[in-house]
Amino acid sequence: MSLEIAASAPVTTIATIGVHEGQTVTLRGWLYNLRASGKLLFPIFRDGSGTIQGIVPKAAVPEALFESLKNLTLESSVIVTGKVRADARAPSGFELDVVDLEVVQRVDDAHPFPITLKEHGVDFLMEHRHLWIRTPRQSAILRVRATIMRAAAEYFDTNGFTRTDPPILTPAACEGTSELFEMDYFDEKAYLTQSGQLYIESTALALGKVYSFGPTFRAEKSKTRRHLTEFWMIEPEVAFCGLDELMELAENFIAHIVQSVLKQHRGDLKVIGRDVTKLETIQAPFPKISYDEAHRMLEEAFSKGLIESKHTYGDDFGSPDETYLSNQFNRPVMVHRYPAAVKAFYMEPDAADPTKALCVDVLAPEGYGEIIGGSQRVDSYDLLRQRILDHNLPLAAFEWYLDLRRYGSVPHSGFGMGIERAVAWICGLDHVRETIPFARTLNRIYP
Ligand code: 4AD
Ligand code: MG
Repeated sequence: MSLEIAASAPVTTIATIGVHEGQTVTLRGWLYNLRASGKLLFPIFRDGSGTIQGIVPKAAVPEALFESLKNLTLESSVIVTGKVRADARAPSGFELDVVDLEVVQRVDDAHPFPITLKEHGVDFLMEHRHLWIRTPRQSAILRVRATIMRAAAEYFDTNGFTRTDPPILTPAACEGTSELFEMDYFDEKAYLTQSGQLYIESTALALGKVYSFGPTFRAEKSKTRRHLTEFWMIEPEVAFCGLDELMELAENFIAHIVQSVLKQHRGDLKVIGRDVTKLETIQAPFPKISYDEAHRMLEEAFSKGLIESKHTYGDDFGSPDETYLSNQFNRPVMVHRYPAAVKAFYMEPDAADPTKALCVDVLAPEGYGEIIGGSQRVDSYDLLRQRILDHNLPLAAFEWYLDLRRYGSVPHSGFGMGIERAVAWICGLDHVRETIPFARTLNRIYP
């Protein structure tokens, strides 16, 4: 296959085609759809940056071009040349009067592209995920995802944080031992990381303000619309920082991400079908309620018959509880000071009530659930050691972590945001499987 372009027209992309209005340009992409109406063909091309409709009147083009396009199979790769014409009715605002078409690879008639415009079941689509991502909605989601990741990193990069990525292969659990992926590491056991937190606590004590950004793994045995076994997490960690300052960091961070998406992806959000008015309200500060206040809201909701099951004081919130709570606000709600018993071993107790942890979960609006989990960390050596023992964690694997409390311990805090949860909320998706190029779940590791 050759990339030589017969036409002398400048090569451009659909996303930027507007600057070439009235000119003849070349696009490189694929035939997404084709409609014929008598002596007119209406191909829709896609090139990864968007889609554009072409117009091909039989009388205006060479016979061979017309015939070749008329019989062209969907998803055949093409190099197409045409004149850019503004058209207010077109989704991209422009159409292409095709003058030349080179077929790079014609999809064989015997094996047509399996994903058609008709409805397909989720299993079929996931089985063909490598092809499904070509469809406009899935491509739009992946572009928004990329911006969410970039904006997230950018927020820390421009606010004095140093990126320090932790290892993926680890000797111990961070978020509980029940969801660990275990593997052989030569003569030892190793686990895929659940969170970079313990490592970035150490880099925070070296560098002050740090963050990590990478894949994390949880052997989640539950099938829910919010859980993946492999997901991306961005985690800041800050020395000399308490819970209040951490919550402020989290709200500014989220607002920056949402505003960046709104600035750059109006068109994609439209393709996805997202109601952007729900995103435009996302500005700091966010509402903050304690676990106790959240519990009282749930009790009242239950007594009024607004939720089906009663929340038991002391328990974590279930998915319907989180949905109810988040629906009471038009911004993410920050729920702080959960009972220490339902949270991780490393969380600092609240001096005002040591049964509570100085932690925060950020619940996204519209029932998208927890997008951020964070806390102030235990800074006392004795308490942390005791917590490790109480949680039946292997002390030897945590000796290095205890060193952080032996040598210049300070109050410090951090949080983690799951990228896929953020993408699901910002794009308004029912399920996290559409938020990542290739979702890993309990039942699927192909393709
Ligand atoms: O609340 P989690 O478990 O917190 C931690 O891992 C902390 N160590 C982070 C920190 O303080 N540095 O997970 C953080 C976030 C959740 O709020 C959620 O967004 C996401 O990670 N998450 C998942 N996303 C997709 N699939 C899963 N199975 C997830 N588990 C957690
Ligand atoms: Mg959590």
